[in-house]
Formats: sequence, structure tokens, C-alpha cells
Amino acid sequence: MRTPFIVGNWKMNLTLEEANDFLDQITNKLPDTNKVECAIAASPIFLESLTKYCKNSPLKSAAENCFYKDKGAYTGEVSPYSLSDMGINYVMLGHSERRKYFNETNKIVNKKVKAVLKNNMIPIICCDETMTKQKTDNHMDWVVNPVAESLNGVSSKNAQKIVIGYEPSWAIGTGKSASVSETQEACCLIRKTIAELYDEEVANQVRILYGGSVNDKNVKELMKQKDVDGVLAGTASLKPKEFLEIINY
Ligand code: 13P
Repeated sequence: MRTPFIVGNWKMNLTLEEANDFLDQITNKLPDTNKVECAIAASPIFLESLTKYCKNSPLKSAAENCFYKDKGAYTGEVSPYSLSDMGINYVMLGHSERRKYFNETNKIVNKKVKAVLKNNMIPIICCDETMTKQKTDNHMDWVVNPVAESLNGVSSKNAQKIVIGYEPSWAIGTGKSASVSETQEACCLIRKTIAELYDEEVANQVRILYGGSVNDKNVKELMKQKDVDGVLAGTASLKPKEFLEIINY
């Protein structure tokens, strides 16, 4: 059984005071971890505070990105080794904003996936359907390629731990989420792709999330879909009240 997983992605928002206030406000209001696992993905400056908080809370911590090298002369980059040492649980990789503004490719994401796994954290690999949909009319290719390329050389033992985020960029921050049927179709396709790359057993373990204008109104229907194991919420994760409504859907 896959435990539902809900991730709030703060992106480049909030001050440290606002972030700490957010965490204070959700204390003792999180769902039972057997029912729903919850995480907050935050920028590096909040991660120390977040990991300290998570020690006494069912909340899990996530970084929004990292580099693929553990250490060295890479000014401004975030080390997966240091993130792991700090106690971070998950690292989001290949978010469409990383691909759009920082030229991240599937090849780079693949290196980062391996670095995160090597450091005993779990990657949340984000796939944006427009990446390939624009280039091909073949409906089936739009999500297959990013998933396959990001997982290139990843063992099946490691692959079953990963989380995949289906995040169509036209739905991100627009207030216009993908329909429930489109979402189920995409997540089902991602699962089939994983079954083809590995096997049914691995495909049944991998959690697949939807992200793009998720809110307290649409979360319930999305979570009912067979292949949708959770959601990634951006805008709606910035206010504790809204985030609480989503995680307690
Ligand atoms: P919004 O919820 O603001 O659309 O952002 C979604 C997202 O990018 C989650 O990673």
C-alpha cells in the first residue's frame, strides 16, 4: 500500500520569521502519518529550522533542489551530502521552474537523482508535460521520456523509493489545475512507464503526485484517483490554514 503524500513547496517565498510562524501554526494539526505523510519543501535558508522542527513532528523536510556533487568549488550550490547530514528527508529535482530558469535537463536531473539516493535521501522527480508535448504529437511520449531519462542507471531497489511529480507547467501558479481525468491519465501513464522500465512491483511502490494549482477545493477529488498518490501544493502551501485544509482533506 502506498501512503498518500502531500508536499507543500514554498519556492522562493516567506521570511524566516514567517516560515517559523507557519510551522508554529501547524503544530499538532497534522494527520496521522499512517494516513497521510506530509512534507514542506523549503529554500536552503530555512532548512536548519525546518529539520529541527521535524524532529518533534510527523512533518518531513524537503529541499527544493541540490547539486550533484557532494563537495568542492561550486560557489552558490547546495550539497546533497550537507543536506543529508542536516537530516533532510526529500529533495525535489527538475521542477519546471528549475528547467525553465536554470536550464536543467533530464541528464542533469538524472545526475542529481543519483546523488540524492547515494546520500540516503529520496528524490521527488518533477516532470512537466510541455517539455516533450510541444516537440511531438505522440501523446504517449510526453511523459515517458523525462521519467526514463531521469531514472537512467538507477537500480530497481532505489527506483521503488522515489516519488514522481506530474506538474504541467500551464497549471502551475495559474489557478487552472489539470482536470481530475487528465491527472489520472498522466499518473497512470507514468506508472506504466515505470513498469516498463523496471517491473510491476517497482511501479506499484512508486508514489506519483500531481502539482499545479492544487487547493482545498480540488484536493479531495484528486486524491481519490487510483494512480494519484498525493499532491504538491505551491501557492496554497504558503498559508498555514490552507495547507492544513489540504493535508486534512
Ligand atoms: P502552485 O500550487 O502555485 O500551482 O505550484 C505548484 C508547484 O509548483 C508545486 O511544486
